[in-house]
Amino acid sequence: MSESRVLVIDADEQRLEALGTILRFIDYHPVLTQSLKGFPLDERQPRDWLAVILGCQDDAQGLQRLAQWLKRDHYHPPLLVVAKYHERTAELLGLDRSACLALDYPMKYSHLADLLKRAGMLHADPCINRPAVQMMPQGPAGNSALVRRTRRMIEQVAPHDSTVLITGESGTGKEVVARAIHAQSNRRDRPFVAVNCGAIPSELLESELFGHEKGAFTGAITARRGRFEMAEGGTLFLDEIGDMSLPMQVKILRVLQERTYERVGSSRSTHCSVRIIAATHRNLEQSILKGAFREDLYYRINVFPIEMPPLRERLEDLPMLIEDLTAAQERSGHGGVRLSPDAVHVLRGYHWPGNVRELSNLIERLAVLHPKAPVSAADLPPRYRGSAATASAHVVDAVLDEDDYAAPAMVACMIPAQVPAQLPPAGLDLKDYIESIEIGLIRQALEQSCGVVAHAAKLLNTRRTTLVEKLRKYGLHRDFAEREPLKA
Ligand SMILES: Nc1ncnc2c1ncn2[C@@H]1O[C@H](COP(=O)(O)OP(=O)(O)OP(=O)(O)O)[C@@H](O)[C@H]1O
Ligand SMILES: [Mg+2]
Repeated sequence: MSESRVLVIDADEQRLEALGTILRFIDYHPVLTQSLKGFPLDERQPRDWLAVILGCQDDAQGLQRLAQWLKRDHYHPPLLVVAKYHERTAELLGLDRSACLALDYPMKYSHLADLLKRAGMLHADPCINRPAVQMMPQGPAGNSALVRRTRRMIEQVAPHDSTVLITGESGTGKEVVARAIHAQSNRRDRPFVAVNCGAIPSELLESELFGHEKGAFTGAITARRGRFEMAEGGTLFLDEIGDMSLPMQVKILRVLQERTYERVGSSRSTHCSVRIIAATHRNLEQSILKGAFREDLYYRINVFPIEMPPLRERLEDLPMLIEDLTAAQERSGHGGVRLSPDAVHVLRGYHWPGNVRELSNLIERLAVLHPKAPVSAADLPPRYRGSAATASAHVVDAVLDEDDYAAPAMVACMIPAQVPAQLPPAGLDLKDYIESIEIGLIRQALEQSCGVVAHAAKLLNTRRTTLVEKLRKYGLHRDFAEREPLKA
């Protein structure tokens, strides 16, 4: 149970409930609390939790109690905090930055599921920071000419120390390639260290990469090793290098040219032997034109470019990828998925904006929803089934990306909503609007299933208990009780 118990703290009741719904939906056991008064809640120790999600909370004393409680246990669960604040929260609470994972807002359930999977890995073996990416030392799976070419390039470049630049859309497998290069290189017995340059605020990236001396800046209570030092003799994967600030780009350029760096707060140069692999989903040539990326750094890192093709350009790989991802699911103890030929056919017609990551998330979701049964085309979530559903799902994403408010967004991402193609000139209240979509779909599901909640829950791909909660929340239990008694 401790592998699935998630503590959620958020003063915002609606967001708290929405998070609870999503966590239950992806089979975790959330415990929700709006307030930190009297924290800890019970006798359970930090290690009894998989993760703690910290939303909005301004009870400073409560937060300190939470921090004390976490620090009681050296291997405490990670704290998931909104990306914008996660570094600051770690500092304020005196927690190690690696113990705070950044939650992207607006949040997608797939991202939350990824983070919790990562938390699960830390939980299983706290000493090993195992990667969230499936280990494929031979390189990305697939039979298409494009992927076979990529694997050949990996083999060719791996034994040399050349810097590699991997480009490609999000979720195409850039990290899979980086890890395969490392695994096939002479550095394979040394560390592979990944840094997401886009996720770390620019003012902290320097100390993250190069380390700092004690007292180098406010809050630097002790000296700390940087990622270059941790990767010594091995490979440093600079992910999302296109998001690095210009001043930081100058510093990286220097390390690439001189192979030396200094810790923040120190004037002593350290020599390093680290192979650099960089990746980005951005078009760096365009970034150069816009003045956002240095041309000299681009030529330094673009020694051996590898471009990962989007999944829609190699759809012949789909059956093999499904097979591999299903096998990986089974290895990790989840049920396998049996997709019928018509389901695979339908998936071939989809445009896969989230690439292999999206496919991997879909397989995982289907494994949860249809543990032993075969999955037919009709069982696929609507966005995969046809252009109309796809278009509306896209508008939902687009509307949500504009918004700062996470919780209803998370719920709406999973619902094939009928949303207006265009925002009305007078605007709309997004929260009310999304709730009205939810209510409409719940009503339809109940009508279709003659008020049998369990059947309606199935139509909505949700748990019966979750639906019962929603009926109460929206007062629908009264409406439906009048027409047909609820058999909850
Ligand atoms: N060819 C493949 N076979 C099986 N799984 C794959 C393959 N390519 C990618 N994956 C899986 O898809 C997910 C995304 O891969 P990865 O993190 O390498 O993508 P990325 O391009 O770095 O994405 P982002 O730009 O979003 O960071 C991972 O879970 C990875 O294990
Ligand atoms: Mg990546």
